[in-house]
Amino acid sequence: MIKKILLILIIFSVCLPNTFLGAQEHFDTDSIPSLKTLAEARGKYIGTAVDIRSLKYDPECSQVLADQFNVITPANALKFDATEPGRNIFSFKDADAILNFATIHNMKMRGHTLVWYLQIPSWLAKGKHSKEDLKEILHNHIKSVVGRYKGKIYSWDVVNEAFQSNGTLRRNVWLNNIGAEYIELAFRWAHEADPNALLFYNEDGIEMRNKKSDAVYELIKKLKAKGVPIDGIGFEGHFDLAPEGTMKNMAANIKRFAELGLETDFTEVDVTLAENILRKKFYKIIPNGKNILDALIQKKILLDISLTKVRLRYHINNIENAVRNIAGEDFDKVWAILKQSYINSPTINKEKKLEKQAKIFNDVCTVCLNNPSCKIIIFWGFTDKHSWLRRFHNDDAPLILDQQYHPKPAYYKIIKAFQNKESN
Ligand code: G3I
Repeated sequence: MIKKILLILIIFSVCLPNTFLGAQEHFDTDSIPSLKTLAEARGKYIGTAVDIRSLKYDPECSQVLADQFNVITPANALKFDATEPGRNIFSFKDADAILNFATIHNMKMRGHTLVWYLQIPSWLAKGKHSKEDLKEILHNHIKSVVGRYKGKIYSWDVVNEAFQSNGTLRRNVWLNNIGAEYIELAFRWAHEADPNALLFYNEDGIEMRNKKSDAVYELIKKLKAKGVPIDGIGFEGHFDLAPEGTMKNMAANIKRFAELGLETDFTEVDVTLAENILRKKFYKIIPNGKNILDALIQKKILLDISLTKVRLRYHINNIENAVRNIAGEDFDKVWAILKQSYINSPTINKEKKLEKQAKIFNDVCTVCLNNPSCKIIIFWGFTDKHSWLRRFHNDDAPLILDQQYHPKPAYYKIIKAFQNKESN
């Protein structure tokens, strides 16, 4: 009998993770107000993306989420592949669960995303669609998804990442079969489905003035002039430790979008510690570089883009042909980059990296705080434990809390930015 009681006691104590000590144990809630309290005091919202699995299976994640944030973006639950796995066959289980959590905790919810080139279901990606057929598919998808959450999801990333870094429209199933008008149609259909929802164009890599942000600016300006219902721009804010420009550049670039009458929010902020020299080269040197890099990773040809080397799956017969099939006319440039199997990157120590990271988070908050058209800052996750970036580098630490939910320098910089009344 004694043995049995002892055994039960041991099991209970082992299963009592620090989650029962809870996030309070990590947060000094006596002297530091929550992020959402500080944001509200400055007339802003602060939110985070969340994956359904973290919400369901990590109690500390849901506790910190409820305590610290007042906006939530489902990282995947509202994407095409999740919501319409079969043609006109919808599934909202995960999105409903996240909306339910948001409702219970009095949080706003952003819808992400209706039209993108990734995470589309195979029936759509592999199907042969005429222009009219694909327009019907897209119209029905938007009407069904936005209509279901009418009045409950306050804003939508209607179109996501339609441009390439060189300022041309990204080739995708929508552009190839409908043409560039798919963007305007998507906004008009989303507005029909919920006239009160704020409709955003969301893009990566447009925080600074560059070919891509110029192209997005010109398109949105043209569409707004035609009366297309676009309310905001989502500057994703996926930074690394060497952003393209300064805080001043970022503020000036965002200001011109604000002058179009748009809300200008940061929608997916994280700051990778990995100095992705390879990634930057792909994006900079190769017009279709992001797609090619994604494809090399998704087809597991490129196994890792680590700081010091490119790991290719050499045991594929004739790796060169496998890369050629993906890279097409860009093969020579791609192969030249990939052949650099050792990329010497400036290795700086972790503390220095965390300081640089904290400065970038501070800059984002400062630009938002100093800009009336910026209402919301959304982090693409808040603990390194659940960051999407760790699939590229398992030791990456791109967010404001570490894997044990301990605040990092970035967290304290953000607190200071929100508490500091003068422009930071
Ligand atoms: O759901 C399946 C699961 O059933 C399966 O077992 C597993 C096996 O790999 O895959 C799961 O799907 C993964 C999905 O995330 C849900 O976790 C996909 O493989 C994975 O590719 C997908 O990654 C998402 C990524 O977009 C896709 O490009 C990340 O979670 C998500 O954070 C990320 O978010 C994007 C934004 O939507 C747009 N802006 C860029 C941002 C980062 O890429």
